[in-house]
Amino acid sequence: MNAASQMMPVVALISGRGSNLRAIIEQADAIGIRIAAVISNVATAQGLQAAAAAGIPTEVVRHQDYADRERYDQALSARIDHYQPQLLILAGFMRILSTAFVQHYRGRLLNIHPSLLPAYRGLNTHQRVIHAGEREHGCAVHFVTEELDGGPIVAQRRVQVAANDDEHTLAQRVLQQEHQIFPLVIGWFASGRLRLQGDSAQLDGNNLAPHGADSDSLGNAA
Ligand code: GRF
Repeated sequence: MNAASQMMPVVALISGRGSNLRAIIEQADAIGIRIAAVISNVATAQGLQAAAAAGIPTEVVRHQDYADRERYDQALSARIDHYQPQLLILAGFMRILSTAFVQHYRGRLLNIHPSLLPAYRGLNTHQRVIHAGEREHGCAVHFVTEELDGGPIVAQRRVQVAANDDEHTLAQRVLQQEHQIFPLVIGWFASGRLRLQGDSAQLDGNNLAPHGADSDSLGNAA
């Protein structure tokens, strides 16, 4: 285990259940991060309880308390920056972010999305994948840029869609993959292997392919 002083400080934003957050908390030591705070726009987000139980500071910044997106994002940013994170992660944070916010954290902002990007950006991905009769689905971790779900992809994991899948069974299998690749990618960032160079995600100094690192070669984080 690394000494606490060597751990990269990370702030996580959530809106709900927080299962990705829990996976990251469990692996934090192994991947060299310290979760400095978990911030939610929703006071009842379950993930806040998991964070508090792990001794992580939690905060709620309610979007309803601000007149517009820009003002909300400024307030959110002020709370995030209080913890001086070197990385900000969106772990089920269900809000569109303003350009100023995204630019402020450019190169140190990662999101997990439940689809094989660039397919199925946006919401209700599992339902849409089943409705379209897709055979394959999955999840992606990407750097966040101004384009919604459109930033450079770092890694993806695939799952096969079974004939009898409904959106819940499919979501569950995708989620198992999410819980592996998000900590893995965060670990790459914390160890200095991953960075955003211009508009490209680079791993070990090499530009990643448009779909991210080869999912077959991705190990587990811990
Ligand atoms: C995940 O499916 C994630 O990909 C998406 O929101 C969901 C969050 O789930 N961005 P949880 O709160 O981590 O359980």
